[in-house]
Amino acid sequence: MSAILDLHGIAVRFGGVNALDGVALSVEQGHIHGLIGPNGAGKTTLLNVISRIVTPNEGTLLYNGQNLLASRAEQLPTLGISRTFQNLALIDDATVLDNVLIGLHSHRPGGLMDELVFVRRGRRHEREARDIAMTALESVGLEPLALTPTSRLSYGQRKMVELARAWAGRPRLMLLDEPTAGLNSGEIAGLRDTLLGVRKSIGLTVLVITHHVEFLVGMADAVTVLDLGKTIAAGTPDEVRQDQRVIQAYIGTAAA
Ligand SMILES: Nc1ncnc2c1ncn2[C@@H]1O[C@H](COP(=O)(O)OP(=O)(O)OP(=O)(O)O)[C@@H](O)[C@H]1O
Ligand SMILES: [Mg+2]
Repeated sequence: MSAILDLHGIAVRFGGVNALDGVALSVEQGHIHGLIGPNGAGKTTLLNVISRIVTPNEGTLLYNGQNLLASRAEQLPTLGISRTFQNLALIDDATVLDNVLIGLHSHRPGGLMDELVFVRRGRRHEREARDIAMTALESVGLEPLALTPTSRLSYGQRKMVELARAWAGRPRLMLLDEPTAGLNSGEIAGLRDTLLGVRKSIGLTVLVITHHVEFLVGMADAVTVLDLGKTIAAGTPDEVRQDQRVIQAYIGTAAA
């Protein structure tokens, strides 16, 4: 009953492609919940459904018991939901701090560039916003680079800037699309510590897509596995790692 997120029978069709085909997912309040599955399984589409970028053809989506399908994407920050993207969504010319400040008033429609103009016009100097952004940067270890152009950062650091931006809005639910992609093992370990740290501090709930199952072991409370648009397994990281359907789904991909 303490599910913050509850999805049932979610179907998404893109033309002839069944990207999602009756997916169920329940995420408990305060959990770190992993979402795994082979390429093309429908993971990003599912995150897009939750963040209201994609409207499902069928199914129900409840957030704290409320119908989230009645909300628009731009309303999600006010509901306490933030996300990162599989492909970095950063403005390279802007400083690290500006990229995080953008996340603090992303309630307005429009692209990142519009947000940057807005940041540069005024909010940038607002002490409160700056303090919040700096605190978020501190929690991902990037405070010393706040005034550095984002383009000078390593790929791993840039992923952390996106995470700081999602985190700066003080969300109750954070949706992360492959934060571990392209990171080395040290950076993955750092990310795990960061997520465990922020979760502990305010009881945040995190739904995280990853291809690194080992990243979830010892961190995630629960894992859901998608394959070909369907939920094929759910359980603890260790349980799903040993699940025959999961092993088969990954072997099938490797052999393809
Ligand atoms: N906008 C779209 N238009 C048409 N087909 C799409 C669209 N978005 C996704 N798809 C298709 O839906 C299926 C699921 O894609 P999705 O990106 O959700 O998978 P994924 O699990 O995130 O994969 P990956 O691990 O590669 O990121 C794929 O067959 C993909 O080609
Ligand atoms: Mg994806």
